[in-house]
Amino acid sequence: MTDIQNLKREAAAEALKFVEPGMVLGLGTGSTASAFIELLAERLKTEDLDLTCVATSEQTKRFAEERGIKIADFNTIADVDLTIDGADEIDPQLNLLKGGGGALLREKIVAFASDRVIIIADASKYVEQLGEFPLPVEIVDFGVAATLAMIEAAAEDAGCQGSIALRRTASGDTFRTDGGHLIADCAFGSIPDPETLADLLDIVPGVVEHGLFIGIADDIFLAAPDGVRHYSA
Ligand code: A5P
Repeated sequence: MTDIQNLKREAAAEALKFVEPGMVLGLGTGSTASAFIELLAERLKTEDLDLTCVATSEQTKRFAEERGIKIADFNTIADVDLTIDGADEIDPQLNLLKGGGGALLREKIVAFASDRVIIIADASKYVEQLGEFPLPVEIVDFGVAATLAMIEAAAEDAGCQGSIALRRTASGDTFRTDGGHLIADCAFGSIPDPETLADLLDIVPGVVEHGLFIGIADDIFLAAPDGVRHYSA
């Protein structure tokens, strides 16, 4: 296991301590969330926790099921007790930039339905200002050129500039989210005012969701070589 994988596992181990019997548990998407799922699967081998687990992506559903964790139908569940997820960037106000894996819409729906959201990451994800990682914005196909222009205008109003490109897969095909939408990756370099940008993107009609998670994280566990730091909202 590489050093970075070890750090992800250490952050995941901290989050695992918050899982209690009978919980409805949201499982995030990405490599750090996967580290958590692996630890959860190990714990479930020796403890009957009677959990109801929901997944934030088809990828997470498959990963969990392959490890013996049953995934419930989220269409029948209104409240989640606890969600554990990763992030692409975390700022000092505990705002997040997410969606590198393209799961931002389901991740945000599950997070909003959760009483508590714990974010786990290695310390490289902590930044003074969000935006070095391209911001994913999930959009519909209809009127894509107009939507991209509206995103650009919204970004400028929020003090952001940079190139906006539709995401492609490694083989060059158009990337599709689990919901069948497109992703516009917005390489702004920095996002000086994430709240304003989030508000402006929220009102672009062709935008389904964006990767700014403002005020959503309750706790962050950030693993560094000298230990795991805990930030609480
Ligand atoms: C998935 O869409 C993202 O929001 C992930 O949470 C994010 O990309 C973190 O992934 P890693 O844990 O693999 O860095």
